[in-house]
Amino acid sequence: MHALDHVDLEVDSGDFVAVMGPSGSGKSTLMNILGCLDRPDLGEYRLLGQPVSSMNDEQLSGLRNRYIGFVFQSFHLLPRMTALENVLLPLRFAQDGDAQEEARRRGPELLARLGLRDWMQHRPNQLSGGQRQRVAIARALVAAPSLLLADEPTGNLDSRTSQDLMSLFGEFSREGQTILMVTHENEIAAHARRVVRMRDGKVEHDRARN
Ligand SMILES: Nc1ncnc2c1ncn2[C@@H]1O[C@H](COP(=O)(O)OP(=O)(O)OP(=O)(O)O)[C@@H](O)[C@H]1O
Ligand SMILES: [Mg+2]
Repeated sequence: MHALDHVDLEVDSGDFVAVMGPSGSGKSTLMNILGCLDRPDLGEYRLLGQPVSSMNDEQLSGLRNRYIGFVFQSFHLLPRMTALENVLLPLRFAQDGDAQEEARRRGPELLARLGLRDWMQHRPNQLSGGQRQRVAIARALVAAPSLLLADEPTGNLDSRTSQDLMSLFGEFSREGQTILMVTHENEIAAHARRVVRMRDGKVEHDRARN
């Protein structure tokens, strides 16, 4: 039994994809591979034309820092750092000085846009769940990634906050951001342009929504 089996998926730049399917169907495994957090034992993954499957760990993390923004269900913020410090964290790993400078400008701008202008200096325990998740999204976007991956980003949010978050994803998507997100909920998936449904490690359906 493989976590993923014969998955053949192509995502165009600018697409907004919801990945659905029962628990254990391989959604997180797929996201981790797409996010260069994991490598498939077999098969090929190309990110912007680059053959990820044959890269070593160092090349993989280079690719991840440069092109991927990842949002987790449980936010993964560092408790001792302020919202803004959390957002700027990925810059520690950035190589390129211009990119660093650009991201330093982008961090506060993103937080403001996500409704957190007055919360930048607060720590995660002073923020609500929805605010924390928006900090995590600003952090994922700060380096202007080609691909935004979100594994159940609304999993810990109430339905109102979840809908607000999806409006933001919709906005980023309309601006051309490529997004893949895992969700269990139809109302959340309804914000995406395409739904990929997984079962037993396979893609069961892959449909554009109309
Ligand atoms: N680190 C691991 N080592 C071995 N097997 C794993 C590992 N992580 C997950 N699996 C297995 O791979 C399969 C797919 O798991 P995955 O976490 O991708 O499912 P999922 O669709 O994200 O489920 P959920 O909706 O519960 O998050 C499951 O059978 C799981 O038990
Ligand atoms: Mg999962």
